Amino acid sequence: MYKNQNLIEYHLVDVRNNKEPKVDINYLSEKEIEKIRNFHKSFSQYTETPLHRLDNLAKHYGIKNIFLKDESYRFGLNAFKVLGGSYAIGKYLADKLGLDITEVNFEYLKSPEIKKKLGEITFVTATDGNHGRGVAWAASQLGQKSVVYMPRGSSQIRLDNIRKEGAEASIIDGNYDDAVRLSDEMARKHGWVVVQDTAWEGYEDIPTWIMQGYGTLIDEAMEQLALEKVDKPTHVFLQAGVGSFAGAVQGYLTAKFGEDRPITIVVEPDDANCLYRSALRGQIEIVDGDMPTIMAGLACGEPNTISYEILKDYSDGYFSCPDYVAARGMRILASPLKGDPQVKSGESGAVGIGVISLLMERDEYRDLRQEIALNEDSIVLVISTEGDTDPQKYIDIVWDGDCASI
Ligand SMILES: Cc1ncc(COP(=O)(O)O)c(C=O)c1O
Repeated sequence: MYKNQNLIEYHLVDVRNNKEPKVDINYLSEKEIEKIRNFHKSFSQYTETPLHRLDNLAKHYGIKNIFLKDESYRFGLNAFKVLGGSYAIGKYLADKLGLDITEVNFEYLKSPEIKKKLGEITFVTATDGNHGRGVAWAASQLGQKSVVYMPRGSSQIRLDNIRKEGAEASIIDGNYDDAVRLSDEMARKHGWVVVQDTAWEGYEDIPTWIMQGYGTLIDEAMEQLALEKVDKPTHVFLQAGVGSFAGAVQGYLTAKFGEDRPITIVVEPDDANCLYRSALRGQIEIVDGDMPTIMAGLACGEPNTISYEILKDYSDGYFSCPDYVAARGMRILASPLKGDPQVKSGESGAVGIGVISLLMERDEYRDLRQEIALNEDSIVLVISTEGDTDPQKYIDIVWDGDCASI
């Protein structure tokens, strides 16, 4: 029912005419996110990631503009995820010191006196790769320890990169959601602190901070768009694993633009389309078992409960995609039309461009592109959330043609 091997499946939701009370998104407002971005700005590694214009691709497809935010430049870690883990750890430590986040900066938290005051803390998490690397990086920068669990099938290079950041990292015999449960159990047993990028009942503070951390990225993008004389995009495609990233961006845009917000589409792999399924059913639905998609960062079967509420109330549609859609996006970005910048985008980063390309090229999506009004007036924003975080896989796909289009 849910899985057509070849086509992008979709479910559009008339959220704008739904007058039911909606979930509060104020904690993701521009004003709140400014504080978080100021904290990120205090890192010596902080620079805004580029916002590329893909003018020739846009012209090719008869779209007004395509903008792509390139998170492969984030703190030298090749993915956006560190924004969440670093802010959550910073906020946790600030709280422990009885200080507001506006009263601390990264250097202060790193200082030997503060480290002494805080003592030794171990942060534990589960990850497909990028989040764990971000948590390991932030913990080691702050002189603290980290333990990271990865699901069965995780790539060796992603494991090695986490270990390089000083974490005790291992691949477990279970899927992503089993790894989340294990980190929770181990935290209880050893008195560690879980820094998980997803929420569940009773575990909501840290994931909320993680989502706020992602806010920095969309805040930068809006500022960069303004410099391009664009007030707001008309369409935003948001790839989702547990949905924290999509929920954070959706919340920010909703707080900023209200009813005039862009059309937002949540994009998932067929193998892990828990938000698509949940939207179809009108309640949270879990995908279990192994999720063999190439989009490793999106291979999560249990939605973030906080984020789910935001997406349910404000997102316009859900797309479930076969793997070749992401692979096509990677190739388009790696081999751009003349005049457009080349972007190294990994499997979970490129699916938005893959979706746009198929929607605009193929006859079978004519109705869908009309339904979401993707046309010559559209200003599209996509976020390439990672670079080649698995370089061999990147080469297999982009150079050797793995995962060919159907
Ligand atoms: C590169 C990349 N993009 C997107 C996502 C999706 O984020 P979320 O799990 O918050 O939906 C992830 C998650 O790990 C990721 O690594």
